[in-house]
Amino acid sequence: MSYIELRDVHKIYRVGEMEIHALDGVSLNIEKGEVVIIAGASGAGKSTLLNLLGGMDTVTRGDLIVDGKHVSQFNENELTDYRRFDIGFVFQFYNLVQNLTSIENVELATEICENPLDSLEVLKRVGLEDRIENFPSQLSGGEQQRVAIARALAKNPKLLLCDEPTGALDYVTGKQILKLLQETSKLYHMTVLIITHNLALCPMGDRVFRMKSGKIVEETYNEAPMDIDLIEW
Ligand SMILES: Nc1ncnc2c1ncn2[C@@H]1O[C@H](COP(=O)(O)OP(=O)(O)O)[C@@H](O)[C@H]1O
Ligand SMILES: [Mg+2]
Repeated sequence: MSYIELRDVHKIYRVGEMEIHALDGVSLNIEKGEVVIIAGASGAGKSTLLNLLGGMDTVTRGDLIVDGKHVSQFNENELTDYRRFDIGFVFQFYNLVQNLTSIENVELATEICENPLDSLEVLKRVGLEDRIENFPSQLSGGEQQRVAIARALAKNPKLLLCDEPTGALDYVTGKQILKLLQETSKLYHMTVLIITHNLALCPMGDRVFRMKSGKIVEETYNEAPMDIDLIEW
């Protein structure tokens, strides 16, 4: 059995009389420690897939298994624990608490965890040892995203889920963030999923899923993923 398995997962949103098939029979396997790229145009179902994996939404039908647990059968309490202990989420717009410093933002997240990593150590890991006492408004976009990654990592999660993590960043800064995510996966043997609409990023993933209209239209396994430094777009 794979670390993550989806079997014929459907997600249907009802809006008034309309049914939107956001995921239309998705099946996939992901192994522990892989960097996974999920690519596709806007509306393809990428965020829906990530939100299901993160326990922020529930499947309409199908099976979702993470580390041997049937997440698709969890009740509300089990989902809360799952989000709390097993999932680190990184968003496009960082979502930091504005009146807390970098280290306070990280510590706030680790307070509710079972086996958190040391907040200071993780902030050092993401290259922010000089910025730990700064507030988000005193940091650049790239630095704020590093705090957000540190906050997610410090929970010591099973999955690090990143929804367009470089969507608000310039080219060079975005590349540095992707490099950090690639290195982080290696260092902690952490499973990292990255959503992007930039197909040029596909070679950096161990595994790549291309999505269209709620379906996976192409799956690639890269024996030797490319170092992000070597990818230009
Ligand atoms: N909560 C929701 N209610 C209704 N429709 C939704 C909801 N979330 C997503 N959708 C729809 O599902 C489809 C897939 O959306 P999404 O997963 O956000 O795509 P992507 O992240 O690839 O841009 C879109 O048509 C979107 O409008
Ligand atoms: Mg999206």
